[in-house]
Amino acid sequence: MKRQTIIAPSVLSADFSRLGDEVEAVVQAGADWIHLDVMDGHFVPNITFGPPVIKAIRNRTDAVFDCHLMIAPADPYLGAFAEAGCDFITVHAEAGPHLDRSLQAIRALGKKAGVSLNPSTPESVIEYVLDRVDLILLMTVNPGFGGQAFIPAVVEKVRRVKAMIGNRPIHIEIDGGVTPVTAPLVVAAGADVLVAGSAIFKGGDKAAYTDNIRAIRAAADAALGQKAA
Ligand code: DX5
Ligand code: ZN
Repeated sequence: MKRQTIIAPSVLSADFSRLGDEVEAVVQAGADWIHLDVMDGHFVPNITFGPPVIKAIRNRTDAVFDCHLMIAPADPYLGAFAEAGCDFITVHAEAGPHLDRSLQAIRALGKKAGVSLNPSTPESVIEYVLDRVDLILLMTVNPGFGGQAFIPAVVEKVRRVKAMIGNRPIHIEIDGGVTPVTAPLVVAAGADVLVAGSAIFKGGDKAAYTDNIRAIRAAADAALGQKAA
């Protein structure tokens, strides 16, 4: 069966003054999910947006909203992100002392639970929560900004996480520096969801987004030995 790579554009690189239009355009351009980078200026050195902005764009598409929380603490805000319309809610393992509790709380809200690891965090920290997660987000840059260079050392971590999860139905998502050049490395290692910000939103219009998504998808398909559709 053909393995499909899910492409999740990060709106961090979109034009925020036209965020709803940008979300619509990128979905029409072939995006599968919309990746939402929430930053608090405390866990990461940048500030973006929160639940009201997510809620405001929720009615622009039916695409899965994949919410990446780079905030500490995260637990007090999980309900607000669920209410805003996020489908996946991902917390960082480094952002709080009670990862198991955070993941349980996300599922109790009826949402898919994700855990993210910074590039320097070993995969062993998620060994005992594997039955509580729907998605593992491996950062291939240090979180905080778009447009940074891919950190190749994480490719080996992707391989190890893929082996760790066995036959559990858990997505492996890659975030940071994903391009048609780096996508094949992580897809071949076991990733099935690719986040990309600058590589997708460059060009600034739907035609460019279509080409950019197609290029990443073709590179991912080639890594799996599949012909692009
Ligand atoms: C970084 C964010 C990423 C970022 C990716 O902290 O989590 O989602 O937007 O941007 P690019 O694809 O430009 O590296
Ligand atoms: Zn992200």
